[in-house]
Amino acid sequence: METKNYIFCALDFSDLEQTISFTKKIKDHVGGIKLGLEFFTKNGPRGVEKLKKMGLPIFLDLKLHDIPNTVKQSLRNVLDLSPNYVTVHLSGGYKMIQELKDIKQETKIIGISLLTSLNDEDLKNMGYNFGQKVFISNLVKAGVKAGVDGIVSSPKEVKELKKNYKDLIFVTPGIRLSTDKKDDQKRIESPRFAVQAGSNILVIGRPITKSKDPLKSIEKIIENIDHDK
Ligand code: C5P
Repeated sequence: METKNYIFCALDFSDLEQTISFTKKIKDHVGGIKLGLEFFTKNGPRGVEKLKKMGLPIFLDLKLHDIPNTVKQSLRNVLDLSPNYVTVHLSGGYKMIQELKDIKQETKIIGISLLTSLNDEDLKNMGYNFGQKVFISNLVKAGVKAGVDGIVSSPKEVKELKKNYKDLIFVTPGIRLSTDKKDDQKRIESPRFAVQAGSNILVIGRPITKSKDPLKSIEKIIENIDHDK
């Protein structure tokens, strides 16, 4: 696969025109774009339709989480946009995920394991007497049984999970070059580490969107992945 196709740029903007003009700038240099809640709550399905016109694969990061019927109907609504990927929280439970299999058509369902903003301390406060590792592995196991096509995790977890779930699509945020700012990312790894660990999609936002020269930043990410190839 061509190296640029690993890169899905996280377009965490609220403004539609800004999102469109930024996408025009990078569209020939990345494999896809990720649109999340920030974009969706402002611009809605019509905004996604506009971005679809750029011809790039769309990763719709809506992190759906509700009772099974509500999630199913919501997925039905966004399937009108034929996104390539939609995210749901694995903690929504077996039934919530399992019911999506029948309606998802070509769209891949990607399960969120544990938000990177949460850690062992948070789990303890929520009453879980085990750490992130066990929490994530239990969720992934249940998600796979229910039929998810892929999961989102930190690049650090991919290698271990890949041993048991080699056919899953692995999506990893938390990607930084050593020269990048970390922002609020905690568990970061390089693009090359993520690809070598078996990640299929690298979600990269601010190192590209906040860069003075986004194309140069993408080039550096590609060089990092291709290094020594
Ligand atoms: O940090 P960056 O801008 O590259 O973030 C890309 C994506 O990673 C975000 O759109 C968000 O979904 C996710 N993220 C995360 N943990 C954070 C910050 C962002 O998983 N602490």
